Amino acid sequence: MAKEFKRYLVTSALPYANGPVHIGHLAGVYIPSDIYTRYLRLKGCDVISVCGSDEHGVPITIKARKEGVSPQQIVDRYHELIKRSFERLGMSFDIYSRTSSPVHAKTASDFFRKLYDDGKFIEKTSMQYYDEEARTFLADRYIVGTCPKCGYDRAYGDQCEKCGSTLSPDELIEPHSAVSGSVPVKRETKHWYLPLNQYEDFLRKWILEGHKEWKSNVYGQCKSWLDGGLQPRAVSRDLDWGIPVPVEGAEGKVLYVWFDAPIGYISATKELTPDWEKYWKSEDTKLVHFIGKDNIVFHCIVFPSMLKAHGGYILPENVPANEFLNLEGDKISTSRNWAVWLHEYLDEFPGKEDVLRYVLCANAPETKDNDFTWKDFQARNNNELVAILGNFVNRALVLTKKYFEGQVPACGELTDYDRQTIADVAAVKASLEANIENYRFREALKDAMNVARIGNKYLADTEPWKVIKTDPERVKTILNIALQITANTAIAIEPFMPFSSAKILRMLAVDKFGWERLGAMDLIPAGHQIGEPVLLFEKIEDDVIQRQLDKLAATKAANMAAEATQHVEPQKDTIQFDDFQKMDIRVSTILAAEKVAKTKKLLKLTVDTGIDKREIVSGIAEHFTPEELVGKQVLVLVNLAPRELKGILSKGMILMAEDASGKLRLLQPGDATNNGAVVG
Ligand code: 2FM
Ligand code: ZN
Repeated sequence: MAKEFKRYLVTSALPYANGPVHIGHLAGVYIPSDIYTRYLRLKGCDVISVCGSDEHGVPITIKARKEGVSPQQIVDRYHELIKRSFERLGMSFDIYSRTSSPVHAKTASDFFRKLYDDGKFIEKTSMQYYDEEARTFLADRYIVGTCPKCGYDRAYGDQCEKCGSTLSPDELIEPHSAVSGSVPVKRETKHWYLPLNQYEDFLRKWILEGHKEWKSNVYGQCKSWLDGGLQPRAVSRDLDWGIPVPVEGAEGKVLYVWFDAPIGYISATKELTPDWEKYWKSEDTKLVHFIGKDNIVFHCIVFPSMLKAHGGYILPENVPANEFLNLEGDKISTSRNWAVWLHEYLDEFPGKEDVLRYVLCANAPETKDNDFTWKDFQARNNNELVAILGNFVNRALVLTKKYFEGQVPACGELTDYDRQTIADVAAVKASLEANIENYRFREALKDAMNVARIGNKYLADTEPWKVIKTDPERVKTILNIALQITANTAIAIEPFMPFSSAKILRMLAVDKFGWERLGAMDLIPAGHQIGEPVLLFEKIEDDVIQRQLDKLAATKAANMAAEATQHVEPQKDTIQFDDFQKMDIRVSTILAAEKVAKTKKLLKLTVDTGIDKREIVSGIAEHFTPEELVGKQVLVLVNLAPRELKGILSKGMILMAEDASGKLRLLQPGDATNNGAVVG
């Protein structure tokens, strides 16, 4: 028997306030958590949903430093942006707080202090990398150097993204600070550690034996962490941004962001209600953490160990973590701007909040990584939302307007087909509930859409537009049933598409129904006057999608150019002045240029070197047309030994530079200069 709970506490991973929210966050965490919460609310359960901005941590300080502003300014900016975007998308958190709030500082500080006083930490001194220029200790991520395994020159102190090796900063060749570029030194520092190894038995029992029902990706990750053996984890950092470690002799040290962030769930609940303890300290509460897969260890291993060490708190009943969403085949990346940003989507697709909610749920990475593509977005809108849901609702309403002036007709005698249809609608509820309660939101969405599918088929099969000519009484029954199904649709889709659900209810001119009414066929009484039908969804045309694809293509091009410019050939071996003196480089003018027959790359150039007019064969035909070269002043190495190429004696070399993208550029004197002028 599954345990019965009296109330629910739903948490959604606190997004870092160092950038906007993108579709990966939404599909992974926020859409599922909102569906779950809305469903429970509609059922009349005692449920609260908490979230807020995660405002501490090194990346925020680095961003602030880069922009020359304070960390507070950074988090203020993104907190507001994220909060507002969530509201616009219809996220229904009961509170969206932030970890720079005073309530949170006190809650997290007291939490640490209790663990400290109860002797739950161990203190350790170790040598860590320190950036003397930026005057900060460096997290492994912020030490960059050459990978000892593959030679990649931008490997991080914890991992090489080229070959995938796990690294420690000590292994990097020529390590330097990503903050200032300087070479870091080792310094001694003291920190507090939570000895996770002491919680292994508890975690094994609680998760591996007690929660076999968790999603296999979550359970599997926990098992492999536990099987690998847990180590003590530092819960403090040397940083000037965060919650000060509330212990004497801890100046300049703050709580590790992953220590304070999950406590943010508690602080947010405290801010929301004086009754917060009811949610956090009663075994009657079902606590569910919605997170992405990169957060599993923190929510299943670290935070529960913290709660256990503290005592008095409940543990999560489930942690339905999702995998990652990719975008057009590539990993979503904030730093590479490879994302669909929520605030931009909301600006560019006004009134289409539910389309995004729909697509991200239909395509959610529940069991494996998934891909978002704009073509799929368009297809799902046009073929599913417009063609099934929108079409059904519109037909039911428009026909009622047309035949009965918008008055809900009475239901007469039912045919077997009517009865079957009604039974099909009623059957959706159980499946939908089971799917939501087991965090299978994709399947649940299909169930919800099935209500509209059944309605669509019902109208197509009963053809009221034909029957009206011969049997108007029968049409009354058909449309009564169609309108009841329309109202059912509004209930079923509410957790997924709240805007469209509200729109349907407005068109029907009825109040919101409770979840228990799903499946009922007496939702709208006969004689009720419905409102004006408007289109629920609009078709999305190709040009709209093309604009988004163009935007991504521009991002990709910019990224490639930026990456290319970062690669510079290492300096060649030292030469003596005499070596240089041996080269005779002259300003020259290209008089004529033509392709060398039967070659792809060669151009024959006639140049005036000031000394003479001569021919030079150059392998640049793929970079320049003959026309664009003629008349240009260039620099020519005139005393290079002549050599024959394709039967032409080439006497010299035109100097060029190859830029990072591989394109050749002519080297030219800044101002017009006489031919023959010596370079040196
Ligand atoms: O991964 C992240 O985006 C983190 N900011 C999530 C924090 S969740 C919680 F513990 F607060
Ligand atoms: Zn490598």
